Amino acid sequence: MAASANLNLMIKAARKAGRSLVKDFREVENLQVSSKGPGDFVSRADREAERIIKEELLGARPTYGWLGEETGEQDGADPTRRWIVDPLDGTTNFLHGMPHWAVSIALEHKGEIVSGVVFDAAKDELFWAEKGAGAWMNDRRLRVSGRRHLHEAVFATGIPFGAKSTLPAMMQDLARLMPACAGVRRWGAAALDLAWVAAGRFDGFWERELHTWDIAAGLILVKEAGGFVSGIRDGQDPLESGSILACNDALFSTFQKTLRGE
Ligand code: IPD
Ligand code: CA
Ligand code: CA
Ligand code: CA
Repeated sequence: MAASANLNLMIKAARKAGRSLVKDFREVENLQVSSKGPGDFVSRADREAERIIKEELLGARPTYGWLGEETGEQDGADPTRRWIVDPLDGTTNFLHGMPHWAVSIALEHKGEIVSGVVFDAAKDELFWAEKGAGAWMNDRRLRVSGRRHLHEAVFATGIPFGAKSTLPAMMQDLARLMPACAGVRRWGAAALDLAWVAAGRFDGFWERELHTWDIAAGLILVKEAGGFVSGIRDGQDPLESGSILACNDALFSTFQKTLRGE
């Protein structure tokens, strides 16, 4: 599958940041860690990965806008295009020496995500998707799972850390969904949760209070793998609200109804 020049640029940036992260991961105990809030950590590894990605992407496309978790927002001369970057999704896993984290890079055009890359550098799995070109992992085409029944489906989610207001809603979701499905996993990297839905490893994923950079790339991966992405409530835009539900078409209605207690 031929990738566009922008996608190749995103892949190059993700691989370069991935190499820096793998190096830091080997000596993770020496990293200085600071806290941005309860349960919300950042290290030199996150900042260096974002620096590398920003240099690559804005170096090649200086007119595009920018949204990155660690460096914030920056307008570009071209108001229609914006890079959306989470340099290290799964920082807590990373800092605990757990090899489940990823680089996430998306390109937005006129408010729509048109390409996405999620790179799991520790496992050398590069997930990428482009509007109309499908979703891929390395050179393998991805397809969401074909499971049709809740009782055989495995879901991923994220449980809010710190004193987040949506904790009671999450506990209610779990009480409703867990007895009805084959299992729920909380692996700690939302971008990878979505990539794994695209790959058919998870049958679905839902989470609240995420940021645009956590989900932008994963969202197009799921869509291009033939899956369905929506807010948790009707009419909610996941990129704006941070509430997201993703799965295959067959499971969507029962998954959503079960979470609502219907
Ligand atoms: C976090 C991860 C986690 C999710 C958190 C995010 P970070 O991102 O995606 O799975 O539950 O809400 O903040 O901080 O590791 O980039
Ligand atoms: Ca973070
Ligand atoms: Ca993140
Ligand atoms: Ca991050």
